[in-house]
Amino acid sequence: MAKPVVLVTGANGEIGRSLLQRLYADGRYRVVTVDLTPLPEKYRGYCLETYAGNIMDRYLLDQVAAHHEIEVIFHLAALLSTRGERDPELAHQVNVEGTLHLLRVAQNQSQRLGRAVRFLFPSSIAVYGLPSVADKQRAGRVQEEAWNVPITMYGCNKLYCEHLGRYFTTNYRQLGALATAARLDFRSIRFPGLISAETVPTGGTSDFGPEMLHAAAKGERYSCFVGPEARIPFMAMPDAVQALTQLLDADRERLTQTVYNVGAFSPSAAEIAARVRKAYPNAQIDYAPDPVRAKIVDSWPEDVDDSRARQDWGWAPAYDFERAMEEYLLPNVRERYANQRPSGHP
Ligand code: SER
Repeated sequence: MAKPVVLVTGANGEIGRSLLQRLYADGRYRVVTVDLTPLPEKYRGYCLETYAGNIMDRYLLDQVAAHHEIEVIFHLAALLSTRGERDPELAHQVNVEGTLHLLRVAQNQSQRLGRAVRFLFPSSIAVYGLPSVADKQRAGRVQEEAWNVPITMYGCNKLYCEHLGRYFTTNYRQLGALATAARLDFRSIRFPGLISAETVPTGGTSDFGPEMLHAAAKGERYSCFVGPEARIPFMAMPDAVQALTQLLDADRERLTQTVYNVGAFSPSAAEIAARVRKAYPNAQIDYAPDPVRAKIVDSWPEDVDDSRARQDWGWAPAYDFERAMEEYLLPNVRERYANQRPSGHP
């Protein structure tokens, strides 16, 4: 029997590229991708088929669905939080209407197959909105249902899409003739800021973490857009991909939630800078806080309570900050920039 097909949107993004490698290495699925930009050759090799196009293009999505029997969707395409504040309506279109299109594809596909298509959706710490730094410090590790009052368009979009996914899974067309037809199976993870050795994110507000590291590795100076005390949770990309695949494989009966926090480590900007300086003694890092981006980071929790993910599907991060730096980030960024660094740097 042919392996099942998984559709990955936003495949050329930060999470997407790592996920494609992981799915290829696992060898359990045939992968079809959609992204605005064409995938580089290396990543195309991991896929059955790749489409360059917009998730707002319903014709394209229908084409993809007509050609493939999709059993799993990782819907990763999104405009991140800083980009979303620059163009809130576009963010809403891409993040909400785009997600609705994908949910529709998954729903139609579930009916066609007579079983639930699994829909994996990365949500974010951006769904939280702490009103002040004092409240943030008092709140500590937040649970899923606390402080769901985001201050960014991106956070609002993610929070609403979590609800949409839950609705499609449990109540879609509850009054209609299709009330008994198969529904999709939506599962979501609220990720902290992600740090990848392979890509630098664009348009996010947690970007100061990865930017600091990549700038030092390239021998470039970095002006951090939040102050040294700013603190949010972060995670190394391999753990993020691990979380997605683990939640994909979890038994439905064991899931008590639609949406799960996952945490790993939670350094302040100054602690990230200190660790980067330890690896790159010549790193030039200073602080030039952008008031709005700093306020967004201050509205996000300093850590998350991920006990439900641990309990329901066995979540446990493999990387704390030190191990992420030593075993994943530093070796890989060193290799990546080896030919670009001026001589004399470590
Ligand atoms: N990394 C995202 C951002 O900064 C948050 O999920 O927008």
